Amino acid sequence: MERTQVVLPAGAIRRQEEFTRRLAALHRQRGRQTLAMVDTYGCQQNVADSQRLMGMLREMGCGFTRDPYAADIIVINTCAIRENAEKKVFGVVGQLVHAKEKNPDLVICLCGCMAQQEAVAGRIKNSYRHVNLVFGPQALWKFPELLYGVYTDEKRVFSIADEHGSIAEGLPVVRESDVKAWVSIMYGCNNFCSYCIVPYVRGRERSREASDILAEVRELVEAGYKEITLLGQNVNSYGKDLDMPMDFADLLKEIDRIPGDYLIRFMTSHPKDAGRKLFETMAACPHVARQLHLPVQSGSSRVLQAMNRGYTREQYLEKVRMAREAMPDIVLTSDIIIGFPGETEEEAMETVSLIEEVRYDALFTFIYSPRPGTPAAKLPDPAARTEKQVWFDRLLDSQNRISGELHRAYIGKTVRVLVDGENGDEAWPLSSRTHGGRLVHLKGDKTLIGQYAEARITDSNTWALFGELV
Ligand code: SAH
Ligand code: SF4
Ligand code: F3S
Repeated sequence: MERTQVVLPAGAIRRQEEFTRRLAALHRQRGRQTLAMVDTYGCQQNVADSQRLMGMLREMGCGFTRDPYAADIIVINTCAIRENAEKKVFGVVGQLVHAKEKNPDLVICLCGCMAQQEAVAGRIKNSYRHVNLVFGPQALWKFPELLYGVYTDEKRVFSIADEHGSIAEGLPVVRESDVKAWVSIMYGCNNFCSYCIVPYVRGRERSREASDILAEVRELVEAGYKEITLLGQNVNSYGKDLDMPMDFADLLKEIDRIPGDYLIRFMTSHPKDAGRKLFETMAACPHVARQLHLPVQSGSSRVLQAMNRGYTREQYLEKVRMAREAMPDIVLTSDIIIGFPGETEEEAMETVSLIEEVRYDALFTFIYSPRPGTPAAKLPDPAARTEKQVWFDRLLDSQNRISGELHRAYIGKTVRVLVDGENGDEAWPLSSRTHGGRLVHLKGDKTLIGQYAEARITDSNTWALFGELV
């Protein structure tokens, strides 16, 4: 598809703004503020999308609530990555029938990655008749028009066409923190890992223009944001589709030139496209955090090939070595899938041996969940769930021990942290993050939120560090 068709023309966004104005006028007729509830599942991309939806809702005159019984509009932004995520959403949506009974004018919207799947939309259409609007991530920018359709046509609206995907600039946004912000640098995924639903629901890879990204980051830094996370399913594919070719390392370098006291993090970086240029750029950019999330998925080259990941165990380990050579203090994290179809116990233990070798600071671990429509879902899967659970527990035991050891090594050290919020614990009221992204529970008062501080680490456990201000 032509790039000019991917970036939406300003006229298309202005048309949506017109719908927003009409909706605001309709909402004013209520005589009280219209309340919206936005409920978000899934990854940071969805969190960022929800902040855009909230931006649109705010411009429609809405305030926000967490109470479904107080809401006039409910938006459920869903995730399709594993069956459990979907089950949870069906449960939540099922419960909303009671809120709808109490308030028949309630408008219920289901969006996000689940909504983009025809089978899910079909199930909502037939069995969840209290849902008024269903739209996929590819139609997010059209939310005002779709909602207006629900109000004026008094019909249920479904917008789930697979449209390759576009880039909408200039959508309003409600940032939920004054300290941390998300910036999408690209959308979609072209990797088609054999187990993964994302390429089917998020459309093809498309990169935002660097000038738009730089303008957004500059604005955030000027507004006082201290931690900016660049988002993409594979940030290392950034720029491949741009007219003026530029890769992710080049983009990092450009962003790093923006003056100010802030940190840049990013996720996710696919190992097949991560290399020396990226690691050396990270090392040379003072604003770029010493943190790398480099999902390996498996430690078995046979399984990696079946997953269509594009690297072997050895190639992955070589990248880790390169990253550590460029940044000896790098904090490394990863994602792991246990129980891919046909994985043997021996292969699962190769994953355990890989994590013992790498010694990640932390892991996100999952048991394989078949996703209808993906190639892996058609493979024979002889291992029993109980057997996979045993392998999974062994992996967790190893990682918990490693995280505990790495965290213990911080005790007695003084580290620079960004205080980012409260954590509801009287003994350790503040939460903060190290340069490498490790969580530090801190003593101190909330006037420190949004500031950098020096913390002396006094204690640790598997998941976090504990510290005092110096
Ligand atoms: N784009 C990112 C991953 C996004 S999904 C990347 O490639 O690194 C986040 C994680 O969910 C994946 O890394 C994978 O570990 C897990 N995941 C994806 N599909 C899954 C499935 N079908 N079953 C179990 N875990 C899955
Ligand atoms: Fe899914 Fe692979 Fe794309 Fe990540 S890179 S979103 S795991 S297909
Ligand atoms: Fe889930 Fe969609 Fe993210 S499937 S993990 S919300 S891209």
